[in-house]
Formats: sequence, C-alpha cells, structure tokens
Amino acid sequence: MKFLGKSRSQTAAFLPLCLFLLKILQPGHSHLYSNRYAGDKVIRLIPNTEEDVNALKKIYHQLKVDLWQPSSISHVSEGTVTDVHIPQNCSWILLAFLQEANIQYKILIDDLQEALEKGSSLQTQRSRRSLIEYNYEVYHSLEEIQNWMHHLNKSYTGFIHMFSIGKSYEGRSLFVLKLGRSRSYKRAVWIDCGIHAREWVGPAFCQWFVKEVLLTYRSDPTMRKMFNHLYFYVMPVFNVDGYHFSWTNDRFWRKTRSKNSRSRCRGVDANRNWKVKWCDEGASMHPCDDTYCGPFPESEPEVKAVANFLRKHRKHIKAYLSFHAYAQMLLYPYSYKYATIPNFSCVETAAYKAVNALRSVYGVRYRYGPASSTLYVSSGSSMDWAYKNGIPYTFAFELRDTGHFGFLLPEGLIKPTCIETMLAVKNITIHLLKKCP
Ligand SMILES: *[C@@H]1O[C@H](CO)[C@@H](O)[C@H](O)[C@H]1NC(C)=O
Ligand SMILES: *[C@@H]1O[C@H](CO)[C@@H](O)[C@H](O)[C@H]1NC(C)=O
Ligand SMILES: *[C@@H]1O[C@H](CO)[C@@H](O)[C@H](O)[C@H]1NC(C)=O
Ligand SMILES: *[C@@H]1O[C@H](CO)[C@@H](O)[C@H](O)[C@H]1NC(C)=O
Ligand SMILES: [Zn+2]
Repeated sequence: MKFLGKSRSQTAAFLPLCLFLLKILQPGHSHLYSNRYAGDKVIRLIPNTEEDVNALKKIYHQLKVDLWQPSSISHVSEGTVTDVHIPQNCSWILLAFLQEANIQYKILIDDLQEALEKGSSLQTQRSRRSLIEYNYEVYHSLEEIQNWMHHLNKSYTGFIHMFSIGKSYEGRSLFVLKLGRSRSYKRAVWIDCGIHAREWVGPAFCQWFVKEVLLTYRSDPTMRKMFNHLYFYVMPVFNVDGYHFSWTNDRFWRKTRSKNSRSRCRGVDANRNWKVKWCDEGASMHPCDDTYCGPFPESEPEVKAVANFLRKHRKHIKAYLSFHAYAQMLLYPYSYKYATIPNFSCVETAAYKAVNALRSVYGVRYRYGPASSTLYVSSGSSMDWAYKNGIPYTFAFELRDTGHFGFLLPEGLIKPTCIETMLAVKNITIHLLKKCP
C-alpha cells in the first residue's frame, strides 16, 4: 500500500464533487446500522516526531475521531502505530490537516460501510440450526449465542452446565458454561470473551472452543488430558449490553452501557474497571473516553459479577484467559507497570511455546510478553486483577489481525483464527498443567 501525498489545495478543490457523488450513489437497498458509516475511513498513521504527536492529540480532541489502535490517545507517542476511524464529514479536514502537517498516513479502509456490508454477506442466508449444523464461521448476535448456550445445556447434561453469575446493567443474564465431566476435579481454567463489545472475533472464538471440546474431548489425547484434570468455565460474552449495542446501533462500541450521572456519554471500559491500580496510567477519568475507568472499581455489574465469581473460586482456578482483538499478541502481567512477575520464566516459556504452536498452522506471527511493554501500560485490567487475586497464570490474547480489517475481521477468517488459537490455548493449558508450579 502506498502512502498518499495529495496537496491540501487539491483535496479542498475536490470536496464539493465528492460530497455530490456520495449523495447520488447511495444504493437503494436497506443498509446495516442505517448506513451510518457511509464514506467513513480508517487510516493508519505513525507519528515520527514529538511535534507530530502533539499535533495528533490536538486534532483528536477537536474532532472526536474513534481510535481503533491504541485504545487511548495517551498511548500515542513517536513510532506508535495509530489506527483511527474518521467520519465521512470530518475526513477531508483531517486528511488536509495531516498533509499540511506532513504526517504520513495510509488508508486501511476506504469506505467503512462498504467493508461492513461486504463482511456480513452471510448474515442474510442464516437460519436456525441444530448444534451439529450450527454455523461457527459467522458472527452471532447475543440472542443467537444465548440460544446456543441453552441448547448445549439441554443436550449435554453431565458435561456442560450453564448458569448465570448475575445481571448486566440493562438486566441481561451473565451466562457462563462449565465444561467437564461431573467429577470433583481440583482445578479449573476460566475463559472470557467479549469484554470489549466491538471485538467480535472474541465471542466467535469462545463458541469455537466449546464446539471443539465437544467434538474431540473423547478422541484427541491433548483434550482428553485437559479434561481429565480440569474444568473450564467459559463466558462467551462478558459485556452483553455492549455486544448487543454493537449489533443494533454502533458496530464500533467498546464499553459497557451504564449511564453516568455527570455526563451524557454512556459506558465504562470493562477492562479498566478492576481494583488493581484502578484509574491510574492508561485509563481515563472522562466518561466520554473509550478507556473510562468508571466512577469506582467494580462499578460495572458485569465486572463485579465476574470478580465475585473469581474471588469465590480462586482456590481452584489455576488459569485466567481473556480474549480480545486486534493486534496478534499473547500478553501476561503486568499490565499496569513495567516489571516482571514472579515465576516469570515459566509463564514466558508457556507463551513462547503457545505462539510457536499458533504459528505452525498458517504462519501467523504473534508477539508475546508482559502487556505493559508489549502493548501499553493500562491499569485496572482483568488480567492483572486475576493475577493479583491469586490466579497464578493469567493471559490476554489479542487475536487477528494487525489492522488490515481491524475490528471488521471477515467471517471467512473466523475459522483459521480459531484453529490456530485453539492450538495455543491447548498448548498453554498442557504446559501449565505439567511444568509450572
Ligand atoms: C459530522 O456529523 C455529525 C453527525 O451527523 C455531527 O455531529 C458533526 O458535528 C459533524 N462534523 C462536522 C465536522 O461537520
Ligand atoms: C441448565 O440445565 C439444568 C438442568 O440440567 C437446569 O437446572 C439449569 O437451570 C439450566 N441452566 C440455565 C441457565 O437455564
Ligand atoms: C506446544 O508447542 C510446542 C511448540 O511450540 C510443541 O513442541 C509442543 O509439542 C506443543 N505441546 C502441545 C501439548 O501441544
Ligand atoms: C512461584 O513458584 C513457586 C514454586 O516454584 C510457588 O511456590 C509460588 O507460589 C509461585 N508464585 C506465584 C506468584 O505464582
Ligand atoms: Zn479488547
């Protein structure tokens, strides 16, 4: 992809024409999300100097663009890959500004609405099916996922148990699946997906994981070993309100949906709301920001419910795995500070082997390391909290990709993403079972 370099005056001159064309070219059929992303772009820029960084921060605050990567403008510094989603009516201002400031950029997604509709072409062909025919290679709405869970609970009694650990802000049940034959195992692994609403490949992976377990726990030796020793708790959609909202209103919604008494902006970042260095570096105190830490720790009922569950079961929960997107990384504590955890080498070896196992399938490379130095510093995260609360092995996956599709990872890539991730999860589990204390 080449970097663009049109001059500012050229851009300005073409503007009326562009707007005019956009108006005529609206196709007649109904659009997802009421066509709200028509003409929006996602661009990638890498500021080279401190001056660039300051210029970007200024324009970010003025235009209120939607940051895709990193999650907070405070993380943008020299050399940081920065992906921003800019609304159609702001794009000319921003692009003209970038050109004037001589900041290089490239366009990742030229028309977000088009990308969105292309990616979901399968949605209309979908019908209700049984588990065996259930399509694990499309994204599913919250209702579909919950129906699927109920179906499993009924069909696999004795292996799957579905229960609710509480209610969301908007009153939805927070469902968890417990997988394992009913014996009194000593230890368990917790897996959650969809803390951030727009990261749809997360819940898709949780569903894939459960399917693979059901299909192979009798036949595959690794799976058998895992399920001879462990229970798995799987929470396919952590942030149920946000996920639902990302289907009905705003595809790029990240936070919960709680109301704020001091602001019209809604929602809290459910991965900054935990009581571990809460609201310190890498979290925002402003309700309108995507990394808003909330009014107090565990203010979000979803976070409180999971924290309560983990507190209650921490004696036998050996590992905590949380699934996010996008970046292609396997992260472990600490997230809130630059420091290595005790028993670092065991966790590091587990991560190293896991990313190698992952890469062995399609050659996809993941970076791995402590979250603070590999991704960025962020306080109040679930991973750090789980670690601090006595779960010795905690990891966060940032699944595919690295920005080509970003949050709009096409449904065609669900399968390869899940296949490779599955190997990493199995590898980590076995490693921790065998070699780590
Ligand atoms: C772009 O459109 C949105 C909603 O239609 C509006 O709130 C915003 O002020 C517009 N921005 C500019 C720069 O025109
Ligand atoms: C799952 O099934 C069991 C019966 O096997 C039932 O008691 C339980 O209420 C079900 N869970 C949910 C969330 O419906
Ligand atoms: C884990 O991955 C490593 C390669 O990184 C491989 O040698 C090992 O056999 C794998 N173990 C399991 C249980 O999959
Ligand atoms: C580190 O490993 C030792 C055993 O080698 C174990 O006793 C200790 O609990 C571990 N610490 C943590 C924080 O996991
Ligand atoms: Zn995330």
